Amino acid sequence: MSLLQVQGLKAYYKTEMYGISRTVRAVDDVSLELRPNEIYGVAGESSCGKTTLIKVISGTVKPPLKVHGGSVEYQFKSGKVDILKVSGEELQKNVRWKEISYVMQGSMSVLNPVRKVIKTFEDIITTHEGIRNRGEFLSRIKEHVKLLGLPPDVLNSYPHELSGGMRQRVAIALATVFNPSLIIADEPTTALDVVVQRGVLQLLKEIQGASRNTVLLVTHDMAVHANVADRVAIMYAGRIVEEAPTEIIFRRPSHPYTSHLIDSLPVIGDKSVKNALKGSPPNLANPPQGCRFHPRCPRAIDICGTQIPGMRDLGGGHRTACHRVSEEKTTKEGRP
Ligand SMILES: Nc1ncnc2c1ncn2[C@@H]1O[C@H](COP(=O)(O)OP(=O)(O)O)[C@@H](O)[C@H]1O
Ligand SMILES: [Mg+2]
Repeated sequence: MSLLQVQGLKAYYKTEMYGISRTVRAVDDVSLELRPNEIYGVAGESSCGKTTLIKVISGTVKPPLKVHGGSVEYQFKSGKVDILKVSGEELQKNVRWKEISYVMQGSMSVLNPVRKVIKTFEDIITTHEGIRNRGEFLSRIKEHVKLLGLPPDVLNSYPHELSGGMRQRVAIALATVFNPSLIIADEPTTALDVVVQRGVLQLLKEIQGASRNTVLLVTHDMAVHANVADRVAIMYAGRIVEEAPTEIIFRRPSHPYTSHLIDSLPVIGDKSVKNALKGSPPNLANPPQGCRFHPRCPRAIDICGTQIPGMRDLGGGHRTACHRVSEEKTTKEGRP
């Protein structure tokens, strides 16, 4: 059973500058599946298309972004929703906050800076449920905030009076007030220092454990995925290059790009200089032919520069898009 099926998704930005039009292929043929009751991580360097993928998945596509192909289908308890076809009104009324909610980096964009936190809760809840009894509403919110372990006076604060970590907790409280099927968190802890980060991730994990919904956790920080995600997808230049249960991604990565990300993580006591990759991620307005990673790949062979590698299923939920992988598997298996 799946909560979300994304198939062959393509989403591009079309921009005009000085009369020259450019198409940035930010998400280019992405397929993935989210299941109920899991934390699914999406990793990859800055600008590889993570936020764009989330925009499409959450139904917030606006020009210059446009979907050029593929499908994004949810199976909520309340029924099926094709997010690329559903009307804005339907999305607003029945999907946002109730089925899909969103926690962003910094969270100031969801909290109104000139209104007390309680007012933001009120705004969101009124548009969705209508508040008949203000007293009942207040006690529901207070209960929810208490359940998440936040001090009750956060509700009477202005966002700027709260610390960054507390603001992120409030954003998580907002995102979970309707107990949605999917909570999307885009770099939720990137602006926070490590100790505060841990507390926020712990909260997200606890909520997921208690309500058994799905969390889509997007961050470039592999250490966060190692600690929190059940499965991880690695994106490079608009594509998923590898996906596996977290332990496999970290212990037995098969794509050279994943290996590079993992080798770059600090290891206590290891003072050796890490090997940097040559070059930089490609310009998505003009990506390289074949495997998009091949110009930087230490293991590239001729075919990598001409043919896009398809996703190969390695078993146990491990998928990878690399020409070198099946070859290796065969030689390994061929060994005595
Ligand atoms: N509004 C926009 N107009 C044009 N290009 C954009 C826009 N937003 C993002 N991009 C481009 O799309 C690519 C993917 O960006 P993004 O999805 O934000 O990546 P990530 O979240 O992984 O850092 C980048 O090359 C970025 O420059
Ligand atoms: Mg981003």
